[in-house]
Amino acid sequence: MKIGIPKEIKTNENRIALVPAGAEALTAAGHIVIVETGAGLGSGFGDEQYKAAGAQIVPDADAAWAAADLIVKVKEPIEPEWKRIRPGQAIFTYFHFAASEPLTRALMASGAVCIAYETVELASRELPLLTPMSEVAGRMAVQEGAKYLEKLYGGRGILLGGVPGVAPAKVVILGGGVVGVNAAKMAAGLGASVVILDVSLERLRYLSDVMPANVQLIFSNRHNLLEQIACADLVIGAVLIHGAVAPKLIRREDLRVMRQGAVIVDVSVDQGGCVETTHPTTHENPTYTVGGIIHYCVANMPGGVPVTSTLALTNATLPYVLQLANRSWRKALEESPALLNGLNIADGKVTHRKVAEAFGLAYHPAETLLD
Ligand SMILES: NC(=O)c1ccc[n+]([C@@H]2O[C@H](COP(=O)([O-])OP(=O)(O)OC[C@H]3O[C@@H](n4cnc5c(N)ncnc54)[C@H](O)[C@@H]3O)[C@@H](O)[C@H]2O)c1
Repeated sequence: MKIGIPKEIKTNENRIALVPAGAEALTAAGHIVIVETGAGLGSGFGDEQYKAAGAQIVPDADAAWAAADLIVKVKEPIEPEWKRIRPGQAIFTYFHFAASEPLTRALMASGAVCIAYETVELASRELPLLTPMSEVAGRMAVQEGAKYLEKLYGGRGILLGGVPGVAPAKVVILGGGVVGVNAAKMAAGLGASVVILDVSLERLRYLSDVMPANVQLIFSNRHNLLEQIACADLVIGAVLIHGAVAPKLIRREDLRVMRQGAVIVDVSVDQGGCVETTHPTTHENPTYTVGGIIHYCVANMPGGVPVTSTLALTNATLPYVLQLANRSWRKALEESPALLNGLNIADGKVTHRKVAEAFGLAYHPAETLLD
């Protein structure tokens, strides 16, 4: 199979979907790997390394897209890329369709087969291709939050860990999943006073066994949430309802109960955000202020640390890329329930229930497209 690896063109996105080790594994399995020139540079991989791994280097994006049966990317195709998509071409990447109707409609119209990293789901309900980026984003959320709490950036001017004799900052994390736990580990390690709110009692029980003493676990309901954000310095939005748009847990009027100069890092922005005042930002202009509260809502946070992120992502994606390449996409999906969960759009039809519900579109179960 011909596998195309275009350079990511979303603002400040420096990750690449395949590292040279992955190109070597695919070519060893008899596939042709086509990499756009310079695509790996942002992650520290040059064309020569891909060539040495058996890949072909092509001079532009058109060439990488045109030849490939399977496109492997990092971020969803953005508008300039839509015209390059061919009917029947399989695209394996993060799509986050439920957060964008224009993207959903464009990919339906393209006739492409869209397999979304973020909805590939194991029987255990784990999301193996979201996990590595959630680990990065969760850890990074604390780093970024700590930065914007500095006075220079408009923050309250509080140090997360405090110092002897001065209380640490309070970090409130909405959602105790992968992002939440990784954020909590970092914040707790820096000495902050941390609270995780989650609706799953099972999850809270598990976290109470593994989290350090400076992490408190509180059931998430509106009453508790308002009480916690009122005294928070840093709020991290980390909720997820699989495949669906995020619930708006903090409303615009709730910002009034928060401390001036507090920071919200809404990591769930890629699913629409769990704060009413959230809108996506970029690494170039990551923050904006509403009612005295700094909002950091970068939709591709791991793109800011591409060396770590590319390696973490491709460790997880390569086994699935090999499955898709070794069989036709239909066969691979028939044999792998996890990959089948990843199918969001094919033949112009929406095959993910939550995506269909988000925009009032007809839902076609993925199995019906395999026949
Ligand atoms: N911005 C970025 O760059 C970036 C990077 C990685 C992940 N993300 C996003 O971060 C979000 C979280 O991802 P994750 O991997 O941690 O998901 P996850 O499924 O591991 O965790 C989500 C948690 O939210 C909890 N939850 C659901 N509804 C809740 C509510 N009303 N109140 C409190 N908790 C609630 C769930 O019980 C679960 O524990 C996702 O939207 C994901 O796409 C964003």
